[in-house]
Amino acid sequence: MSNFDLAGRKALVTGGARGIGAEIAGALARAGASVMIGDILGDLGRETAAGIAKSGAKTGFVALDVTDDASWEAAAANTVSALGGFDILINNAGIEVTALIADLDAGQFRKMLEVNVIGVGLGMKHAFRAMRPGGAAGKGGVIVNIASVAATIAFPAIAGYSASKSAVDRLTRVGAAEAGKLGYGIRVNCIYPGLVANEMGLKLANDVVAAGLWPSVEAAVGDVVGLTPVGRLGEMRDMTDATVFLCSDAARFITGAGLPIDGGMGT
Ligand SMILES: NC(=O)c1ccc[n+]([C@@H]2O[C@H](COP(=O)([O-])OP(=O)(O)OC[C@H]3O[C@@H](n4cnc5c(N)ncnc54)[C@H](O)[C@@H]3O)[C@@H](O)[C@H]2O)c1
Repeated sequence: MSNFDLAGRKALVTGGARGIGAEIAGALARAGASVMIGDILGDLGRETAAGIAKSGAKTGFVALDVTDDASWEAAAANTVSALGGFDILINNAGIEVTALIADLDAGQFRKMLEVNVIGVGLGMKHAFRAMRPGGAAGKGGVIVNIASVAATIAFPAIAGYSASKSAVDRLTRVGAAEAGKLGYGIRVNCIYPGLVANEMGLKLANDVVAAGLWPSVEAAVGDVVGLTPVGRLGEMRDMTDATVFLCSDAARFITGAGLPIDGGMGT
């Protein structure tokens, strides 16, 4: 059950094999959408898609490396043919490499920019081409980019990640402006999730301890919670509810927006 109705919609979720992306894929399906999972993790991605299909939703998996233009072109075409359309894109795939600025590694930094920034830009490109009038799907649609609270705060050891997520914020706003100006019928928004205690979130907590910034994971997490007015870390359903809302017609007049889902931590 969902508060918002996505019956008949056709969605592609990048990085949907696990984590926040897998949860978003499940939530879109519960709201009535058909869902393709696009990921570099084939076995896990297929498993996640099959798990969601047990609820009766139409699902599929497509191999997708978001840093690669040709991979995107194939994934968009595959989504249209497998689902019979394409009107929701969740640009969720992302990586986080923790590093103090004094220790930045150019190769790792570049990789993070490729996945988090170029991956989102290429996703918007191929969704625009497929969804706009005359495109292979051609019925307009919605894009939700997954940025981060890291785009709105200054937290030590995540300068590169913060830079990449700030870029997602700007990609979102320019995308919304272009889609509007050119009559694509596509809304483009992003969310800024706060820290979630999954694999990526806990790795960050361990990394800042290893960097000597906090004495323990408990102290680091405690400080994050202390900076959060709602007084807790993020939960998956906080992210999925907001994303389903932005995809739904309840958000029909919302585009070019960034929605903090961070318990008030960001500015
Ligand atoms: N976990 C958090 O606390 C948190 C907070 C704020 C924002 N985010 C953002 O949410 C998104 C999901 O994060 P998560 O916590 O679920 O991470 P995760 O590591 O659990 O999942 C990321 C997924 O992206 C996929 N992926 C990585 N590189 C890819 C590529 N080149 N092409 C296609 N898929 C690729 C991975 O295989 C994986 O399935 C990311 O954009 C992340 O930056 C996470």
